[in-house]
Amino acid sequence: MRWMFRGKDFLDLADFSAEEIQYVLQTAISLKRRLMIGERLHTLEGKTLALLFEKPSLRTRVSFEMAMAQLGGSSLCLGPQEVGLGKREAVKDVGKVLARMVDAVMLRTFDHNTALELARFCEIPVINGLSDLHHPCQVLGDLLTILEKKGKIKGVEICFVGDGNNLCHSWLSASSVLGLNLTVTTPEGFQPNPDIWEKAEVLTPLRGGRLRFEPDPLVAVKGMDVIYTDVWTSMGRESETEERIVKFRPFQVNEELISRVGKEVLVMHCMPAHRGQEITDEVMDGPFSICIDQAENRLHAQKALLALILG
Ligand code: CP
Ligand code: NVA
Repeated sequence: MRWMFRGKDFLDLADFSAEEIQYVLQTAISLKRRLMIGERLHTLEGKTLALLFEKPSLRTRVSFEMAMAQLGGSSLCLGPQEVGLGKREAVKDVGKVLARMVDAVMLRTFDHNTALELARFCEIPVINGLSDLHHPCQVLGDLLTILEKKGKIKGVEICFVGDGNNLCHSWLSASSVLGLNLTVTTPEGFQPNPDIWEKAEVLTPLRGGRLRFEPDPLVAVKGMDVIYTDVWTSMGRESETEERIVKFRPFQVNEELISRVGKEVLVMHCMPAHRGQEITDEVMDGPFSICIDQAENRLHAQKALLALILG
């Protein structure tokens, strides 16, 4: 299986098979254990990763940099002012030059087409560290977290509450491949991209899962094992903040919503959280929240990904 990843791009979870995703997760579990017992690894000695950011980041930057360091490789981070992707220089030129100097590129970009274009012209692997359409590295870490907490992924009732955004899309991609029991609840007008939804709607039952849209969040969360939320206003959409705060209010993950689950539930948030908007302090800091474990698992999941793509 290891060789199948070598040199591959990682732009969307839907580009991978269930076996491949399971293999990354098993590798992540093994690498996490080895880190805990203090084993030093040299898997990526001499390898370099360039991190290109058009938007801010805490978790993505730190987890990728630490992942490379812990595997014996190195990384360099280029912020929005440094590269001017598609502005100072054509995306394809950036890709061709980087391919001569580093072994892989991670890109956080506004437009998913930029990631596709970079991957097309760059002869080395390109990893999507968030675009307007997908955030596959986040959901990879989240799947690892659910696997650790519940001992399985299939059959776990997961409810995505909030905006039909990049995170929601990556959950839909995961469902297309793994066949999740996934419920999505969003306000009217903020549903996920119809193409991504339709693909997941066709493929989820074929993979043994169940995909459901429920407009009422109080109904959607009933009987769930996991409630997953994300910001109401993603990076790049700041001008819509006021409108969204009004329309998304019933979708806040608060104690009232949690009480509608009717059983113990895990609460997940990819972070950064806008406390008081999509999630309250009580829930974020409460006993059901596994958000910090989730953030940590970005490191372990991406370490596995890098080891398999570059190792
Ligand atoms: N969840 C996530 O990607 O966090 P950052 O934006 O801080 O990288
Ligand atoms: N949907 C959010 C995720 C941040 C990690 C955004 O795109 O801003």
